[in-house]
Amino acid sequence: MTAIAKLHPELAATPPMGWNSWNCFGCNINERMLWEMADALVDSGMKDAGYEYLVIDDAWMAMRRDDDGNLMPDPDRFPRGIKAFADHVHGKGLKLGIYEDAGEETCGHYPGSLGHYQQDAMLFASWGVDYLKFDWCTCEKLNAPRLYGEMREALLGIERPMVFSICEWGQNRPWEWAPAIGHLWRTTWDITDKWDFVGDGEGKWGGLGIVNILDQQIGLKRYAGPGRWNDPDMLEVGNGGMTETEYRSHFSLWCILAAPLIAGNDLRKMDAASRQILTNREVIAVDQDSAGIQGRRVKKEGDQEIWAKPLHDGGVAVVLFNRGQSPANIVCDWRAIGLGTGTAEVRDLWAGRDLGCVAEGYIGRVPVHGVMMLKVSSI
Ligand code: GLA
Repeated sequence: MTAIAKLHPELAATPPMGWNSWNCFGCNINERMLWEMADALVDSGMKDAGYEYLVIDDAWMAMRRDDDGNLMPDPDRFPRGIKAFADHVHGKGLKLGIYEDAGEETCGHYPGSLGHYQQDAMLFASWGVDYLKFDWCTCEKLNAPRLYGEMREALLGIERPMVFSICEWGQNRPWEWAPAIGHLWRTTWDITDKWDFVGDGEGKWGGLGIVNILDQQIGLKRYAGPGRWNDPDMLEVGNGGMTETEYRSHFSLWCILAAPLIAGNDLRKMDAASRQILTNREVIAVDQDSAGIQGRRVKKEGDQEIWAKPLHDGGVAVVLFNRGQSPANIVCDWRAIGLGTGTAEVRDLWAGRDLGCVAEGYIGRVPVHGVMMLKVSSI
């Protein structure tokens, strides 16, 4: 194998942030709604908080290619075409992502890319696409590293730098090969807007809840770093299936995991609570920390867990997580999070409040299905 030229690692020096149509709209998308969503990304304050990519997921295409084999946008859903939409998105200071599939068909049964990787990469570049999510439906018997590697070659061959999002659902241990091929890779079947849930086929059909996805991230820390991220799937914050406390936990845990932060709610009618969760600067700063170290679970006692993520300034971000059905005191010993036994400064990130200097450790009172998120710095 020849040495691998990395695919523009600078595009994802920190985990990509954006919005994607799938979690809220599924295949029910059109350019008018997306036009409004681009406006809402800016007007809601999401762009200022760091959300940069607007990703059109499945169902943007016509059911067949044109006579030259080029993909066509669905003429009813996208009468002005993708290029015009890309121009609108770029005019807002945002970037555009698009969805395709490595096989013959997308998961929604639209034309896949198989046999057309080069052609599709060039077409997307000509439209001004900045981010490609590449799915794995109708590929079950194919070789994932080889096919994703082929699309990576095609992307390397075009002028336009694109983030490459690998979406094969963790089926072929992508963390072992995807870091050399793309910028992020899904680690599980699809997320669903539920706390604790395993759909049919162990989540293949019907998806996985938040805690079920979380448990599948154990052991993956070492594969992530600047330019290469484990992707526990897009955010469900604001979609209505969980409580505000649960959404805050979902977001905190994704940030401690250094996960890509791809919102999936209807930004045109986002409530204040969802906005406060999705745009909390101090919590997002943990996700986007320049050291790019994925957090890991450092302690588990029944339903109480501690997750910790070392930060570039020597501090440690900590999530005290209570999965249980009653409020709990969680004891966080400084040694458990990699600090010495001395005194440390503690800040409550959700409250935006300094809790002062604390020796040896901290005891947090954590609500049912809730978190307390701290930044701890030795002094
Ligand atoms: C798969 C992916 C999802 C979404 C759908 C679209 O299920 O994992 O994220 O892109 O396909 O059909």
